[in-house]
Amino acid sequence: NLPQNVVLKEVGPRDGLQNEKGVIETKDKIQWIDQLSESGLNYIEVSSFVHPKWIPQLADAGEVLKSIKRQKDVTYAALIPNIRGLMRALEVGIDEASVFMSASESHNQSNINKTIDETFPVLKEVVEEAKKANLTVRGYVSTVIGCPFEGPIAPEKVLRVVDALLEMGVTEVSLGDTIGVAVPTQVEQLLTLLFNHYSPSLFAMHFHDTRGTAIANIVKSLEMGITTFDSSVGGLGGCPYAKGATGNVATEDVLYLLSEMGIQTGVQMESIINAGFFIEQKIGRNLVSKQMEIARKE
Ligand code: HMG
Ligand code: MG
Repeated sequence: NLPQNVVLKEVGPRDGLQNEKGVIETKDKIQWIDQLSESGLNYIEVSSFVHPKWIPQLADAGEVLKSIKRQKDVTYAALIPNIRGLMRALEVGIDEASVFMSASESHNQSNINKTIDETFPVLKEVVEEAKKANLTVRGYVSTVIGCPFEGPIAPEKVLRVVDALLEMGVTEVSLGDTIGVAVPTQVEQLLTLLFNHYSPSLFAMHFHDTRGTAIANIVKSLEMGITTFDSSVGGLGGCPYAKGATGNVATEDVLYLLSEMGIQTGVQMESIINAGFFIEQKIGRNLVSKQMEIARKE
């Protein structure tokens, strides 16, 4: 009982570029995002309105959002940490705001400079104001399996943050394996607990592939009823405030898996690979997904 359709949410322009040492030129970001908009993706996380001192790579979020060519059937989202970030985003226009926090206290502190309990009212205000501005809101929970500071994270800690985000009114919760430690048995344990309380349709999975287990985790998630996955062209990505965090699972590798399993996404492999070749030139190193390596040899 696998799903017939899956939604892929492309986070490369945000999760990918936030973790690059170099800063990609604004015009190149715009050209890249415009390519992605024509690949059949219907969701792109374009950038992040966090403090530019914390993530200088995405300090041009406003400029990028102002200049991309928006397609009607694509949702353009951005990461929003607080009201100041939301105000910056509303000036240039986004379709969806993504609020974010962690299941582990120490990663939350390191990433957004607050305790978990201090974060709830900040995000609640963002959700309320975003809804008034007719945006939908997605909520990320980071470190849902393991934390770079605390090690394994109990599913109950994740449930507590999920409860709070859904109570605030987010329409989807994206569960982040921030440092790519998860294996399928752990994913199963977490989702079993969450699905005792909520429908699988409320969740997306956000796997980083640090240890090569992301595809296995995606298969497990599919079998359990998840139909939305975050991924990144070329496997770019990582959180600068989580030591050891490397790239997201590559969009093209997920695409191969899904299409060979007979699951539709509407996304064209060739366009994604071409977008990968475009951005790796700007970054100045080869991207290392399986499908990119295969395409390079052809
Ligand atoms: P803070 O220093 O505690 O902020 O940072 P503050 O509220 O105390 O404000 C300090 C100053 O910053 C003030 O200016 C604010 O106006 C300004 P002053 O009055 O002193 O002149 N300020 C801002 N300026 C511009 N835009 C803003 C903004 N907010 C405050 N939005 C803050 C708190 C959350 C802002 C900071 O910690 C931050 O930006 N953190 C972001 C870190 C980040 O982006 N991490 C990566 C993304 S999360 C991730 O990758 C995980 C994910 O992929 C899922 C997964 O893989 O698990 C989503
Ligand atoms: Mg991430």
